[in-house]
Amino acid sequence: MHFQWYPGHMAKAKRMMQENIKLIDVVIELVDARIPYSSKNPDIDTLAKNKSRVILLNKCDMADQRYNKAWKDYFEEKGYFVALVNSKSGAGVKQVQEVVNKACEAKIERDRRKGILNRPVRAMIVGIPNVGKSTFINSFVGKASTKTGNKPGVTKGKQWIRLSKFIELLDTPGILWPKFEDQAVGLRLALIGSINDNILNTTDLALELVLLLKKHYPEVLTTRYGIEIPDVVDNLLGASKILEQIAIKRSCLIKGGEADIDRAGNLLIDDFRGTKLGFITLEFPSSFAKEDKKNIENEAKAKDSIKSSEAEPQMIENTSDIITSEATEIDEVYVD
Ligand code: G4P
Repeated sequence: MHFQWYPGHMAKAKRMMQENIKLIDVVIELVDARIPYSSKNPDIDTLAKNKSRVILLNKCDMADQRYNKAWKDYFEEKGYFVALVNSKSGAGVKQVQEVVNKACEAKIERDRRKGILNRPVRAMIVGIPNVGKSTFINSFVGKASTKTGNKPGVTKGKQWIRLSKFIELLDTPGILWPKFEDQAVGLRLALIGSINDNILNTTDLALELVLLLKKHYPEVLTTRYGIEIPDVVDNLLGASKILEQIAIKRSCLIKGGEADIDRAGNLLIDDFRGTKLGFITLEFPSSFAKEDKKNIENEAKAKDSIKSSEAEPQMIENTSDIITSEATEIDEVYVD
């Protein structure tokens, strides 16, 4: 399965980011706790390099608790201020105020020295479509003040929202990679439902999910479907045999009694997304040591090149691959 992302609304997205970033003190980035790496946009690190940074590991209720803490530690070590949040139930949302205050301590202190007291910090919320931005805002504010919905890309337009006495929030459209250089990133985004299923081959997606589950959560398929999993399932053929078993167990059959692996695939993906397989995390901090090293090297290179040119325009140009959530329409993503 190959993901290729063709961005739209790029000029608009660039303009939005360019305008907004100047207005704010702190960037609050929502990532999905099940895939904190793939749902985080690395371009924001460059774009918001002088801003305070908060990461909210949202949907932590759907992820494996054992790794929630590990991911929190991972990001904190990198200098982010982090909170685990379940925006849907509101769990963890209250502590966000405290985390934002900590992230903005230096700015609050600067204001205090100038005699400015209790000026709200201005925050910008960013994240891929469907990560839960609107749900979080509603939960934080305590009432339904922004629209939420069930399709990627529902957060639209730009508006200031008074979140509390201490925070004003600029609600911007979500941001997502237009090109998945790392195919594994595309795969994981597809698995959590961030890419419209209409353009995906869900059977292929389910086969990849089987392989991931077999590797990291070997017991869940047996527990959920009562099937025997051979020890060696490390290729798509092996995975399709498992889908066949699920199909038979769940009576997903086509004429002649043959296993309908397409239906079984959809069932498996639905079960995963609905946490019926349990709370599952698909990425682990320990896997990213190599990427981190590469990023640090790239950052150093980027810094050198920025030094030798005009910093601001250069940074904005570098975000040319950022697209808005509105650009996540079917015709802009191709999968083969
Ligand atoms: P967005 O603005 O970033 O695009 O995302 P949005 O808030 O619309 O949330 C997308 C979906 O994710 C919604 O589900 C929302 O309820 C769900 N969600 C957001 N945060 C959390 C969380 O922390 N935990 C869980 N379990 N779900 C969360 P939906 O099915 O699309 O809508 P609905 O049926 O809940 O209304």
